[in-house]
Amino acid sequence: MIICYNFFMKNLKNALLLKQLYQLKQLGYQYTDITPFKEDDLDLSLPGTLVSLQKQANQCHLCELSKTRQKVVFGEGNPHADIMFVGEAPGAAEDSTGKPFVGRSGELLTKMIENVLYLSRNDVYIANIVKCRPPGNREPTPSEAYTCKPYLLKQIKLIKPKIIVTLGSTAYFYLTGDETPIGKARGSVFNKEHYIVVPTYHPSYLLRNPSAKKEAFQDLLKIKSLMG
Ligand code: URA
Repeated sequence: MIICYNFFMKNLKNALLLKQLYQLKQLGYQYTDITPFKEDDLDLSLPGTLVSLQKQANQCHLCELSKTRQKVVFGEGNPHADIMFVGEAPGAAEDSTGKPFVGRSGELLTKMIENVLYLSRNDVYIANIVKCRPPGNREPTPSEAYTCKPYLLKQIKLIKPKIIVTLGSTAYFYLTGDETPIGKARGSVFNKEHYIVVPTYHPSYLLRNPSAKKEAFQDLLKIKSLMG
């Protein structure tokens, strides 16, 4: 956790330094030995509300994904949700709308929320491990995932969900650090300090492998029982 935070802060400082050097270049500087900013003057902590956190994420250029994205897909839903769903990364539909899980796998996720948990999408919060679409829907690289993770951790801190349902192996691994394959980990309960994580299959896996829907249904029933 500390490594990931330090990594993010280093990237953030480098990005701010680069921005200031570009500004100096535009002013005609070719060489400078002035310190563009004093680190002590900078507030590098992440904002303390979801709205301001989203504003910051919308302007994020800390990784390569920012170069190819159309929209940052921050996440959406009830800011006080008891249950939060975390997917892997936005796809094409999400990239063009800025909303999570609105494509085909999103339709299935909505059905799972409504028809098994008897909740509406507005009752829960939905986010992803990375906020920008990886080109060609490839898996996010570890560097992209760890760079983006502080945004997710801050979302979790602000929303304070009781249950986080990770969708697929990528989301489960980057949230918990547990490398157990999803086929084994699904349906189990991973205790974190302030919430529990329940992994299940990613809806896009279920679309490709409809026979796994039975197990996903069992996982949802378990989540429902944990909701109390
Ligand atoms: N798949 C994901 O993991 N997240 C989305 O938002 C959409 C598809």
